Amino acid sequence: MKHTDFLVIGSGIAGLSFALKASKYGSVCLVTKNVVQETSTRYAQGGIAAVMYHPDTYEKHIEDTMIAGHELSDPEIVRITITESTDRVKDLIDWGVDFDKNPSGKYDLAREGGHSEFRVLHHKDITGLEIQKKLYEKAKNKANIKILEKYFAVEIITQHHLGISITKHSTDIDCYGAYILNPHTNKIDTILAKTTILATGGIGNVYSNTTNPAVSTGDGIAMVHRAKGVIRGMEFVQFHPTTLYNPSERPSFLITEALRGEGAILKDFHGNSFMEKYDPRGSLAPRDIVARAIDHELKISGEKHVYLDAKKINKTVFFNHFPTIYSKCLSVGIDATKDLIPVVPAAHYSCGGILTDPWGCTNIRNLYALGECASTGLHGANRLASNSLLESLVFSHRACEHASQKINSIDFIEGIKDWNAEGTISNEEKILITESTRELQSIMSYYVGIVRSDLRLERALKRINIIYQETETLYQQSVITQQICELRNMICTAYLIIKEAMKRKESLGLHYSIDYPPKED
Ligand code: FAD
Ligand code: SIN
Repeated sequence: MKHTDFLVIGSGIAGLSFALKASKYGSVCLVTKNVVQETSTRYAQGGIAAVMYHPDTYEKHIEDTMIAGHELSDPEIVRITITESTDRVKDLIDWGVDFDKNPSGKYDLAREGGHSEFRVLHHKDITGLEIQKKLYEKAKNKANIKILEKYFAVEIITQHHLGISITKHSTDIDCYGAYILNPHTNKIDTILAKTTILATGGIGNVYSNTTNPAVSTGDGIAMVHRAKGVIRGMEFVQFHPTTLYNPSERPSFLITEALRGEGAILKDFHGNSFMEKYDPRGSLAPRDIVARAIDHELKISGEKHVYLDAKKINKTVFFNHFPTIYSKCLSVGIDATKDLIPVVPAAHYSCGGILTDPWGCTNIRNLYALGECASTGLHGANRLASNSLLESLVFSHRACEHASQKINSIDFIEGIKDWNAEGTISNEEKILITESTRELQSIMSYYVGIVRSDLRLERALKRINIIYQETETLYQQSVITQQICELRNMICTAYLIIKEAMKRKESLGLHYSIDYPPKED
């Protein structure tokens, strides 16, 4: 049994930035199920939205966020996030993150869909990689931070593990740490913590096409759901409108929205710009609208992709700001300065997640949720581009302020038993897991994608229930592996998406049902 003051699960921007701040107040154990660098954070391209200079103002950024979120965002959370944006970006700069500047020495701000001003700080088109690298460099040199790579969090520990019954109506659930699969022994370690932080990222792998890396399987959300914590907003899954059409590739390669901010335009198979039919903001309308418009165009035309025309972008700007996109396109035979880029939408971001308060606290005591796995209330029914790296930083900072004040008054729990693996056997048939995963992804993509209906959701639920029953039986009998846990977590996440979608009898933001068309249709 191991003990730590802060147990941080996840090594993206949320986990690392929390760990760096918390290490001043106690011991930090950071576990991550892959290598530290393999996160959604490292793939972020566009950048981080923050108010830096006139003519931008906090009020404008707040308004854009509320509009993108279809007024479902929590106004207090939006105000907190935006008014703290400048300070949190300064933290990143202090940690060594190098944002691009223009010749006058000011930060070179980009613009993305739904933003009324240029306000996205970036490092070329690899902003996330720059952030991930700099945060990791800092964290690995801190004596108070212990990093465990390829350790997989299986469950959070609560009173349930003391034999006390808890239900979803319990108001006094405590978190005491987590059970973690140790890759060296293949056994489950018990890590007891005064404070546990879930920073486990997104859910993209629930779908067949996603921009998310393989680590994004909804683990934190599923763990909290099983521990009877509160999850909300799962019906709001954001599909990024423009990923490179390259069917054999997983994850899908993103073509940043910042390219449209520089003037790239969406076109149909005949080379006609089509977004004006759907929204006066054209190719720079918020993502929910653009992704749905592309979905509609594909259904009408029967084609497999639309095009992004970036030919009018000044070549110097293209090579300086988007070198990775340029070389990626070239590697598949497309010169983006001369050719049209074939693009399709792909699952990208979960606006819903574990319900948190303005300090990152969940409804389970001493358990915080940060970053994409959390539902702070910032995004409402649709996230404004480049607001998520910002949200991770703002709430990691606030969670640390909150947790550090309490840390010395919390005692480690006694009486937690080690994980019981009795009666389980090693399952050699990986096909049972890989095939169920494929089935799940296909059900979610066809029935619970960009456009939904009551019938599709009912079908999805019935089919997912079968996979759920089969997987639970397999799980009870098998020695625990990361793969079976991830499948279980994805099934749980899919279930939460479908259930929330079925409850919402309207089309709003990212949840669009043909049975409840919005009034303006
Ligand atoms: P992640 O960075 O995904 O990290 C999750 C961590 O949790 C990983 O270390 C993972 O291994 C670990 N983990 C998960 N489950 C377990 C478990 N059971 N046990 C142990 N460890 C676990 N947002 C923006 O604001 N601007 C952008 O430009 C932008 N571009 C993007 C481009 C792409 C291609 C993608 C995929 C996303 C982009 N986003 C962008 C979204 C943004 O990157 C993510 O929302 C954000 O990085 C999430 O950070 P995080 O720390 O919450 O999670
Ligand atoms: C992008 O660069 O288009 C992604 C930005 C985001 O997801 O916030």
